[in-house]
Amino acid sequence: MSKKTAAITAVGKYVPDYALTNKELESLVETNDEWIFTRTGIRERRILKDADKATSYMAIKAAQNLIEKKGLDPKEIDMVIVGTATPDMNVAATAVHVATEIGAVNAFGYDLQAACSSFLYAMSTAAVYIESGRYKKVLVIGADKMSSIVDYTDRTTCIIFGDGAGAALFEPNEEGLGVQDEYLRGDGVGREFLRIEAGGSLNPTSQETLDNKQHYIKQEGKTVFKYAVSNMANASEQILKRNNLTNEDVDWLAPHQANTRIIEATARRMSLDMDKVMVNIQNYGNTTSATLPLLLADYEDKLKKGDNIVFAAFGGGFTWGALYLKWAYNS
Ligand code: UT7
Repeated sequence: MSKKTAAITAVGKYVPDYALTNKELESLVETNDEWIFTRTGIRERRILKDADKATSYMAIKAAQNLIEKKGLDPKEIDMVIVGTATPDMNVAATAVHVATEIGAVNAFGYDLQAACSSFLYAMSTAAVYIESGRYKKVLVIGADKMSSIVDYTDRTTCIIFGDGAGAALFEPNEEGLGVQDEYLRGDGVGREFLRIEAGGSLNPTSQETLDNKQHYIKQEGKTVFKYAVSNMANASEQILKRNNLTNEDVDWLAPHQANTRIIEATARRMSLDMDKVMVNIQNYGNTTSATLPLLLADYEDKLKKGDNIVFAAFGGGFTWGALYLKWAYNS
């Protein structure tokens, strides 16, 4: 009996309408378009302006986009995983709210928090559930309202992050398409360099933590950059080696969109031309858990059944890895 694999059979996306340009950021902090573009590759990012709308709003929109495109009956969805660093609330899973709102009344679900690697790890989780034979339709959403944790007076972070959501449906495949292999890693050293200091059990919210602006995301950019370059490139190289793939076998690299220089370094290590690398950071900035599914949605019409795609991500924690997937449909 051939092994059941877990294939992506549909994707969807949502980004808010409001575009925060580099020009507008020039009026908020001491920066300029040229610095931002040359150091990061970002031109603009989308921001969910409405104060009463949270991460779930974008996750629901992305899921509905997928459901509509696929003609899917949401009652058939078995499970919803929301990868996010900005859940609606700390207690009460965003995924459960999303499932209810999209009509996935027969599903269970939970949030998966691994910073910028959330979607990558969630793909692995979905694949294992599908391969087990226990579930047939697993909806994985990556969604983040980064603007809710960004300090717009801190030029080292506010130029980077944006809001958005993407979704992918995983189903069993009998042709060997879908997830082939993964190389996932983590290193707790990372929590020194990229974090939100307060609001958790270590530093519960107090007047002092509010006064000290400890509820915003902070990172030591240079250090994170170095770890990101070496680990994302290394994971991608490992996944090629383990699967006896050469650069010619790879049709696409789908890398986390944190910085064009990190993306280029990963492509170089894989000896891949940039025309095989999915890039949309210029439009959205770093949307944390949403970068990978947004790439899939934006490149969907270029992807062909059987294409070899390597996903790679690096994020807070530190968390990182690479995943090798064979694309399962022509759109
Ligand atoms: O997705 C999760 C993981 N996160 C990442 O992967 C992010 C990794 N880090 C990065 O992408 C980069 O480190 C940044 C984009 C955050 C920063 O770029 P950098 O090339 O590492 O800059 P830097 O921090 O070394 O700063 C270089 C200079 C400094 O000035 P001096 O000390 O050389 O005079 C900064 O003060 O650039 C200055 N600077 C800025 N200038 C204009 C820092 N931020 C800005 C800014 N505009 N926004």
